[in-house]
Amino acid sequence: MNLSDRNQLMGFSPIRKFNKYANAAEKAGKKIYHLNIGQPDIKTPTSYFDAIKGFNQEVLAYASSEGNPDLREAISNYFKRVDVDFTPDDILITNGGSEALMLLFLTLLNDGDEVIMAEPYYTNYLTFIQAAGGSIRPITTTAEDGYHYADRDKIEACITDKTKVIALVSPGNPTGSVLTKDEIKMICDVAVEHDLIIMADEVYREFVYDGKEMTSFGQVKEAANNVVVIDSVSKRFSACGARIGCIGTKNAEIMSGLMKFAQGRLCCPTIDQVGATALYNLDPSYFGPIKAEYDHRRNVAYEELQKIDGIVCAKPSGAFYISCKLPVDNAEDLLMFLLTEWDDNGETVMFAPEEGFYVTPGLGKSECRLAYVLCEEDLRKGIQLLNKGIQAYLNK
Ligand SMILES: Cc1ncc(COP(=O)(O)O)c(C=O)c1O
Repeated sequence: MNLSDRNQLMGFSPIRKFNKYANAAEKAGKKIYHLNIGQPDIKTPTSYFDAIKGFNQEVLAYASSEGNPDLREAISNYFKRVDVDFTPDDILITNGGSEALMLLFLTLLNDGDEVIMAEPYYTNYLTFIQAAGGSIRPITTTAEDGYHYADRDKIEACITDKTKVIALVSPGNPTGSVLTKDEIKMICDVAVEHDLIIMADEVYREFVYDGKEMTSFGQVKEAANNVVVIDSVSKRFSACGARIGCIGTKNAEIMSGLMKFAQGRLCCPTIDQVGATALYNLDPSYFGPIKAEYDHRRNVAYEELQKIDGIVCAKPSGAFYISCKLPVDNAEDLLMFLLTEWDDNGETVMFAPEEGFYVTPGLGKSECRLAYVLCEEDLRKGIQLLNKGIQAYLNK
């Protein structure tokens, strides 16, 4: 039996493929500081759990394929507060932002179609694009150039007769870059002019620092028909396990296409949608302290990283990740060493190696992504362990 060509083309998630070594190390008693995955330690708001405790229907029934009306209404109101005019009908509830991405690429791409995006990119984009038969046409960015890709010439140089989508994530994973209002406007102009769809992944929307403004592609009215916004409760409300996300778009044809897949997978979990409704109904003041905490962690992470000889990284402006060039030739090999051969008093650290965040062969081998999702003490400890581990690796 042969698996499908598409499946054979795909790789395992570079973020999760080392988990088996981490599990074995933890089973053997090692403590691992997990800076490899965007799983925040911030408490999920109690209103989520309270709403679920208050669920009192006698039958746990299917929800509707487009999502619970209360949740779509709550998300529509949330979008209004950030100046995005999505009515409940413009919103499709999905199983996390991940399913939103998968459904969108399946709806838009034909075999051989191309998606323009900056590399390094959030690696699961490649998974879903490949599953839909498409490929990535990258704009390569570096720490040295501040991961800047919002350049009209660079974007237009990537457009071919196969281009369908420009995919953007702002605030960015894995680089923490944030698009300005002018850059968003320029990208929208390009998309309208070349009849392309913008996939705007804004799951980190609130987490922007240094006085930068929170913006959304959904605010650009002239490009409303070209824009599809991807969203999720995972990061915004520290509710990764809820598996609730959504797609917002004013493009009725895309929404109708998405519904075919949404009906095929029946619905999202009924109870988690009840909890997610309570999250979206939280007062916006909820975000103030959370954003301040991530801002602080960003500063802590950057400060500790600067102590590592030979490291290159740019201070992120948003989200909660930082990409770094490490003073080693092969970050995957270093990670294996940290998980399987080394510890400091029974402790070690885990990061996401970044080679799999590039499609251009040979790039990212010495790079890693760290998620500053742990409290200050653990974050400092984790990066100090990385520093010690690198020295041990280089001296072995
Ligand atoms: C940029 C980005 N988009 C989408 C997702 C998917 O998140 P979820 O499926 O938990 O909503 C993630 C998760 O890390 C992400 O970083």
